[in-house]
Amino acid sequence: MSPTETPLLQVTGLQKSFGTNRVLDGVDLEVRRGDVLVLIGPSGSGKTTVLRCLNGLETPDAGVVAFADGPRVDFAGKVAKTDRAALRDRSAMVFQHHNLFPHLTVIQNVIEGPVQAHGVPRAEAIATAERLLARVGLAEKRDAYPSELSGGQQQRVGIVRALALEPDLLLFDEPTSALDPELVGEVLKVLRELANEGWTMVIVTHELGFAREVADEVLFFDEGVIVERGAPETLFTRPEKERTRRFLDRLLRPLDGPDPA
Ligand SMILES: Nc1ncnc2c1ncn2[C@@H]1O[C@H](COP(=O)(O)OP(=O)(O)OP(=O)(O)O)[C@@H](O)[C@H]1O
Ligand SMILES: [Mg+2]
Repeated sequence: MSPTETPLLQVTGLQKSFGTNRVLDGVDLEVRRGDVLVLIGPSGSGKTTVLRCLNGLETPDAGVVAFADGPRVDFAGKVAKTDRAALRDRSAMVFQHHNLFPHLTVIQNVIEGPVQAHGVPRAEAIATAERLLARVGLAEKRDAYPSELSGGQQQRVGIVRALALEPDLLLFDEPTSALDPELVGEVLKVLRELANEGWTMVIVTHELGFAREVADEVLFFDEGVIVERGAPETLFTRPEKERTRRFLDRLLRPLDGPDPA
């Protein structure tokens, strides 16, 4: 895209506290169409809260969340229910645990959102769902129940369920961290394909190799602020801030004992 094009999403001054715990302390970020933004940072730094604020699942105390062609929601003022609903419509979130409905089959899980929330005719929703399931290699699991699938398959259904909503923005919260190591690859493969197809995505992940491959920008969070941001190549190999360096060192050497120094 041209550098002058309005970003798909622009977030400014996002603040959120839970009681006296200030979880987001002035977060600014923008996502350009077709870009992949990766969020990293220690546990409790606010990554999930950011995604939930973008998706309208959480109400920030202050800040503006603006999509290029609306809505633009200023949380410092009174926020209308319709604004929050409009915000929720623009993005779809994939969680760490897939959150599939256990009593519904795969296809029923996928069409539930389009049919119930968007009023898509059932036959059309089924056709779309079948096409998307085939794309992630799950055509034959159409009528299976979530409990009959592996973790990786469940997570791929979760991704299909998000895609079926045809959002402008896909949000992923540690989509592979609950998976057995041998299942991580199949989910990352789908994410890689989505990135190559030009989907706009914000991904919280600790898979640094993957992040390096697909991210246009990496944001390092700590204690509710973005400490450092940059292209993955730069941020991972030449971080400027001590806090970023320490976090990356810990992540890259998780099995080491205490520092010899
Ligand atoms: N609903 C809530 N009520 C109270 N505190 C909350 C709530 N949600 C999050 N928090 C607190 O907000 C802080 C940030 O949480 P968040 O889940 O955004 O962190 P995170 O960066 O996603 O961490 P992790 O890597 O462990 O997933 C934490 O201190 C958490 O305890
Ligand atoms: Mg989290």
